[in-house]
Amino acid sequence: MGDLVTFSVIKADVGGWVGHSSTHERLLDAARNRLAEAQADGTLVDFHVTRCGDDIFLIMTHRRGDNDERVHHIAWEAFEAATEEAKALKLYGAGQDLLADAFSGNIRGMGPGVAEMTFEERRSETIIVFMADKTSAGAWNLPLFKMFADPFNTAGLVISPALHDGFRFEVLDVRENKLITLSTPEEMYDLLMFIGAPSRFTVRAVYNKRGEIGAVSSTQRLALIAGRYVGKDDPVCIVRAQSQFPAVGEVLEPFALPFTVEGWMRGSHHGPLMPVALHEANPSRFDGPPRVCALGFQLADGRLVGPRDLFDDPAFDEARRQANVIAEYLRRHGPFEPHRLPMEEMEYTTMPQVMERLADRWEVVEEEQTTQPVVSEEAVDD
Ligand code: 13P
Ligand code: 13P
Ligand code: MG
Ligand code: MG
Repeated sequence: MGDLVTFSVIKADVGGWVGHSSTHERLLDAARNRLAEAQADGTLVDFHVTRCGDDIFLIMTHRRGDNDERVHHIAWEAFEAATEEAKALKLYGAGQDLLADAFSGNIRGMGPGVAEMTFEERRSETIIVFMADKTSAGAWNLPLFKMFADPFNTAGLVISPALHDGFRFEVLDVRENKLITLSTPEEMYDLLMFIGAPSRFTVRAVYNKRGEIGAVSSTQRLALIAGRYVGKDDPVCIVRAQSQFPAVGEVLEPFALPFTVEGWMRGSHHGPLMPVALHEANPSRFDGPPRVCALGFQLADGRLVGPRDLFDDPAFDEARRQANVIAEYLRRHGPFEPHRLPMEEMEYTTMPQVMERLADRWEVVEEEQTTQPVVSEEAVDD
């Protein structure tokens, strides 16, 4: 048994530059300074601080396991330091995602998104970190299904004996806080029944059938934590690639389709998820469309060799073009569904206030009553 390594990504939006479009370099430097101290004192093996849109991602390796109080506290302090810069520059929504007044024990449930996995570093350990802006925690359901369960996406499921047994998906019901684990290919249809509704069910992790972790995602839903709209989750997902897991190209392939996600303007619209290089992760049109970046690393005894900016490839130009076509089509719906999110989701934004203001203007209309059965029971009996 080799040493275990923990790969932690903790992310937050602590201030947008300009509006919600991007991140100021001074915020990233403030976070880097805090993590450099933690590396110097031996807490972290290595780190990389980056961003997608207005969200900062702290990518860290260490030997302390998942949910380590010290690592979470350092991340919280890095975000506090970045918030100070955001306040000094009067950036938009300074401290937006730091929902708690002070750190206590575990950063989960305090606003920032968390994805962590602990594993034995392989002879060659390939890892991809996906970072999204202007979307929500369930956004990884479709790509994770394609990577680990769809033979039309992942040739290895058919061709490679190391993948042929399939995978297990850990699915979280974010409303009821319940978990279920479903196996593919055997329970593929059951799995799709749930994860096809990503606002309620999110894939939290994927394991192979030997119990090795292949992927983990942040499942924190800001609106459910805060009980109101405070910006979108803008989630992160970590995927291990090659050997007993899908190859890098198989892990990236789902993003060749700019599939529809929730997020975009005011967190309240559907739009296509556009795969982009880091330098293009500055959503501006209608605060979008939603973006996803993919950073690749090789691990060497916990050290991060990278990143490689994996969507910085003309092979994804067509996905970007299609995303713009879909974006234009949806934009023309203006305030109408399905561009705007359905009622249930709007209840976390300004919908309740509008409802309340007009509450006594609604009149009951008897003749339009539609809850009565149209066919009488007598008619049915005949
Ligand atoms: P592995 O069998 O090592 O995963 O390599 C396959 C590959 O890289 C195809 O792209
Ligand atoms: P963020 O969730 O990225 O902060 O975006 C919020 C928003 O209102 C975009 O229009
Ligand atoms: Mg923001
Ligand atoms: Mg954001």
